[in-house]
This record gives sequence, structure tokens and C-alpha cells, in this order.
Amino acid sequence: METRILDADLDDNIELCADIIRSGGLIGIPTETVYGLGANALDADAVSGIFAAKGRQPDNPLIVHIASLSDINLIVRDVPDVFMVLSDAFWPGPLTLIMKKSEAVPDVVTAGLDTVAVRMPGHPVMIRLIEKSGTPIAAPSANLSGKPSPTKAEHVSRDLFGKIPYILDGGSCRVGIESTVVDISGDIPQILRPGGVTSEELAQILGTIETYNAMGVSEPDAPRSPGMKYRHYSPKAPMTALVSPPEVSAEYIRHRFDEICRDSENSLTSKKIAALMFDDFAIEHPSVVTFGMCTDYLTQAFRLFDALRKLDSMNADEIFAQVPEQKGLGFAVANRVLKAAYLVVKL
Ligand code: TXA
Ligand code: MG
Repeated sequence: METRILDADLDDNIELCADIIRSGGLIGIPTETVYGLGANALDADAVSGIFAAKGRQPDNPLIVHIASLSDINLIVRDVPDVFMVLSDAFWPGPLTLIMKKSEAVPDVVTAGLDTVAVRMPGHPVMIRLIEKSGTPIAAPSANLSGKPSPTKAEHVSRDLFGKIPYILDGGSCRVGIESTVVDISGDIPQILRPGGVTSEELAQILGTIETYNAMGVSEPDAPRSPGMKYRHYSPKAPMTALVSPPEVSAEYIRHRFDEICRDSENSLTSKKIAALMFDDFAIEHPSVVTFGMCTDYLTQAFRLFDALRKLDSMNADEIFAQVPEQKGLGFAVANRVLKAAYLVVKL
């Protein structure tokens, strides 16, 4: 199968992709967070195709995307009161809500759980595709399992070429990291995955909210969100995340580059290292990829996954990464860097 990238601005292309969704096929779709790999959420066979194409573990459930609030009763039973408060405040947008699932949702979508993740995305192309298809769309991020999430159509093509017929190209994703996942199926809302909506924003609406640390774990043996137990977003080379003030991690990286340079001049090594650094602390080196100023979390979120993919293509033996402070959107950015890391070091 050839994979074609289609201009999402053309209505005919949306119609074509809606036909594919209705007939049980898969489409690469832009959202405001990251690109999704979509299928008809109510068609178990179509949804199984998502797991096969991504190489995704069958115990990792998917998010169901809806275009209108009226679809919620189709997907969810016992909609809790807090749902209206949160959907009012943050939908359409980068917030996924976990609630009790209805009979209509096939087990393959929820990996056998009795809850379902639902989100109304803030991207006109995804909304139009759901409307034209006439069905909610189940979609994980459109990367191969374990790889950085795609924020451009070409990222999707690189991972899934030959496995899906079409990718709708809607340009770069505005937010750049995935939605915040909040479980509202119990008494107390709980953040299961940090993302585009910050815990500070949620606390403003809810008063307080329970959250995990940036590693996404509070109980290492029992992750509540199955996806959080897998290593993720990772470049091929082992990456060391440096959790320390930016001047300290920058100095450490400079030292490692100097060391490698000295050793290779003396023919002691042919090892290649690369680094992910803040623009305002970056060192001049062709193997350094930057992702925004150290406190500009919006830009870091926007550029992170593309930067991880660039680092991947450098074929380094080892990668070092600066990690932002864990506040505001920086918390979600730090979470993704830490999840991508092979080793986390505090300096
Ligand atoms: O921004 C996003 O959320 C993107 C776009 C495409 O919408 N989607 C995305 O999907 O990131 P995915 O599959 O890569 O991540 C979904 C996360 C996983 O960690 C999964 O385990 C969790 O949501 N999840 C889904 N259903 C759940 C459930 N019923 N209970 C707990 N966690 C759930
Ligand atoms: Mg994903």
C-alpha cells in the first residue's frame, strides 16, 4: 500500500478520508496536540488495525474523539457532574477525561477496562472528519509504539508509510505534546498524564487536583493509566536526562563534548554524542538540537518531539538532555523528556 499525504484544506480530501473511516480503514489526522492514527471507534475490527499498525500493546487503551457534546451519552454511562465543569472550561482542547464506558464502546478500544477516555479536540480538521464520518474516532498518537509522537505529517509518514492509505496534512501541531489525561470516574479527579492543560489550570477550576510526579508514577507497581508504564518517545541512542539548573546541566554537557573531542583527537574513541539543549544555554556544536529558551515552556512543547526525531537521525551513541523546571506546561515537557530517557541524573 502507498501512503499519500493529502492537503487537509481541501473538502474533497476530508470526504475521501471520511469514506475510509466509515469503511473500517485508518487515517493519519492532525489534532492541536499531536497527529492521531484514527479509526471508527465503534468498529472493533477497524480499531484492531490501529494496534497492528503501531505495534501497540493490546493492554494500552485508546482515546475516543468526539465533535459534539451530544455524543457523550453514546460513549459514556453515568456522566459525572464534574464532566460539565471541565468540558465547559477546556473543550474543545487538550484535555482527555476518563469515565465509565457505555455498551457501545468495543472492549478493544478500552483494552478491557470498564472506563473510556474521551476528548473533544481543538483542531478543525479532526472535528470535520468526525462530523463527515458520522462516528466518534478512536485515535492514539500516530507514531510507531515507543517513538516520539508525530507533530508533522512527515513524521507520521516516516513511521507508518505503507501501513495506512492517507495522512491529512494540517501543518505543525499547535500544542506539540499530548492531552492531559484526567480520571473523573472516581470521587476525586486525578491527573494520570500531564499534558497541554496544566495542573495549575485544572486546580483553578476544581480547587485541588491529585497528580503524579513528572515521571508519571505514584505507585510504580500499579500505574492507573496503562500507557504510563511503557518507556516512550525514545530516540534510538540511550538518552540521559539531566535534572538540574540549566547552567549546571549545560556545563556538564560542555564538559562531555570536550572530553569526546580530546579522546577522538588522540584516537581513543570514535564515539558520537548529541544533546538536547535550551536556546539560551546551548553550546555551538552540530550535534546540539535546541527546543526553546529555558523558561519558554510553550515553545519547548511545540518543538520537543521534532527535536527528539532530529536527535534520532544523527545516529549518536549517547544523547544528553536538559530538563525544564516542573511547573506550568514545563511539567508535561519534563515528563516527556524523562519518559524518553534511559537514565535520569540529578547534578
Ligand atoms: O493528545 C492526545 O491525547 C493524542 C491525540 C491524538 O488526541 N492522543 C494520544 O493517545 O496521546 P495515546 O494513545 O498516545 O495516549 C493515550 C493515553 C495512554 O497513556 C493510555 O494508557 C491512556 O491515555 N488511557 C486511555 N484510556 C484510558 C483509560 N480508560 N484509563 C486510563 N488511561 C487510559
Ligand atoms: Mg502515544
